[in-house]
Amino acid sequence: MPMHAARPLNLAELKARHVTLPVCPSVFLKLQELMQQPKTTCGDLQKVIALEPALAAQVLKTANSAMFGLKRSVCSIDEAVLRLGLNEIWVVASALNAKQAYGAAGGWSEFNQNQWAHSLKMGLLAKALGERLNQQTADVFFTAGLLHDIGKQLFHVVDPAYADRTLDGLVHGHYLCDQEREAFGATHPQLGAELLRDWKVPAPVTRLVESHHKDPIEDSGLARSRCSFALANELAHNPKWTPEKGMTALPGKVPAETVLEIVMISREECLALAAAMHARAEQLLASGSA
Ligand SMILES: [Fe+2]
Ligand SMILES: [Fe+2]
Repeated sequence: MPMHAARPLNLAELKARHVTLPVCPSVFLKLQELMQQPKTTCGDLQKVIALEPALAAQVLKTANSAMFGLKRSVCSIDEAVLRLGLNEIWVVASALNAKQAYGAAGGWSEFNQNQWAHSLKMGLLAKALGERLNQQTADVFFTAGLLHDIGKQLFHVVDPAYADRTLDGLVHGHYLCDQEREAFGATHPQLGAELLRDWKVPAPVTRLVESHHKDPIEDSGLARSRCSFALANELAHNPKWTPEKGMTALPGKVPAETVLEIVMISREECLALAAAMHARAEQLLASGSA
């Protein structure tokens, strides 16, 4: 895999290159089909849009844009869909369609498919763990979970060889961040958060995206929330995760037992949750890919 000398990759550079995130073609077709049916409701759209990170991010961006600027900002994808309504979703979808058609996104690859599956699993697991705190946290966690690795998609568009580093899951977490810093002068949490901030996605979401590979107990006031989100990422990578295997994605090397204690969850509950959410994600992925 080609490793470049460190060159800072930032949003300005990506914008100058007109980088566009690819949307899963089958999910996109589903959305188009729905838009052509007169009986389609916002609820139908919510189900499809919440399946796909790039699509969800675009809808959040529009819902939080100046056009809707007089209202409070939204973290929840369902709320963003409601705010936009059917007509505006159609405008967003058409614009994305035009970009995909011009090939600006570089197509849909195995890397994109793997990232999609991981993001959906992470979104569902984060939501389930967030529900143990409160409903508002669950909504923020779902959005942040779905979008947490969006920076990887950006790196991949810029450098397709990036996929080699992550495809087999051998390098992830803070080890991957170290490689990214070396290759691009930035990490995927930094770049992803920068993009989402630029799109006016609210701070509760961007902060989780930005910190998802940082020591989750460095800020004691947020420890339960940060540990829950970090645990969701671990379980999304590995449903058979056990405390003995440690928190491999965390730079703080926080003992896993400590994380379980802070999250207030037993290892049995953890494994049951992981199995249920992986199964749910597989179902959704199959329906979205059909
Ligand atoms: Fe990550
Ligand atoms: Fe992840």
